[in-house]
Amino acid sequence: MAQTRKLDTKTTARLLSIATHVGALIPLALLLWDYWLYQFGADPIREITLRTGKPALILLGLSLACTPLNIIFGWKHLIPLRKWLGLYAFLYASLHALTFVWLDYGLDPGLIVEAVFQKPYALAGFSTFILLVSLAVTSKRWSMRKLGKRWKRLHKLAYVAGVLAGVHFLWLVKNLYTEPLIYAAILGALLLIRVRPIRQGIIRWRRQLKSKLEDTQP
Ligand code: HEM
Repeated sequence: MAQTRKLDTKTTARLLSIATHVGALIPLALLLWDYWLYQFGADPIREITLRTGKPALILLGLSLACTPLNIIFGWKHLIPLRKWLGLYAFLYASLHALTFVWLDYGLDPGLIVEAVFQKPYALAGFSTFILLVSLAVTSKRWSMRKLGKRWKRLHKLAYVAGVLAGVHFLWLVKNLYTEPLIYAAILGALLLIRVRPIRQGIIRWRRQLKSKLEDTQP
């Protein structure tokens, strides 16, 4: 019985991992496909910018959701996916930033610096990107070992990146704020769950619920 459950957990973890990798690569595959078929509209640079920015934001949000979902539902198999979701967010953010500095600004350092410091949304995006770079380069196990306790503190910056990405998104939107506000609400809820008393309360409630369920089972 215990062995079957272990096998089920293993299968679930493997399926989730496959779904994560496939799902995270779909926007990139579609982008390359449309590029191949010349299906970009009148403003291809803008299209690439938008189609890399959104996946970066969503994947960052999903990566931040893994720990709170484990706290609420005890879904432990999400924990190893955190890193991959974060790395995929970094991949899309790199393509997004590259589109801006290369395709949009022709790799001209003067123009890029001017744009980043003149446009508040670009400064927020740039700051997010710098944070994602620092998280990605320290995501390997040996960085974890080398940095010790500081690694955990550094990786809390993922939440700061999430907030800055939200600010970047909010600043870009001209009149329809629904999407950025949904993102902000989800991020706010995720941050609240990380607050120690709230987190401990949820864990306690989950344990009580579990023991009650076990008691009612024949
Ligand atoms: C060097 C850093 C960055 C720069 C210069 C930058 C710049 C831009 C620009 C120019 C746009 C398109 C504006 C428009 O034409 O409407 C955009 C959109 C966007 N960016 Fe960034 N960005 C940066 C980093 C990031 C990062 C790190 C994220 C997320 C993690 C992100 C998420 C988004 C999102 C969600 C959109 C809107 C997409 C949509 O409306 O569908 N950006 N960004």
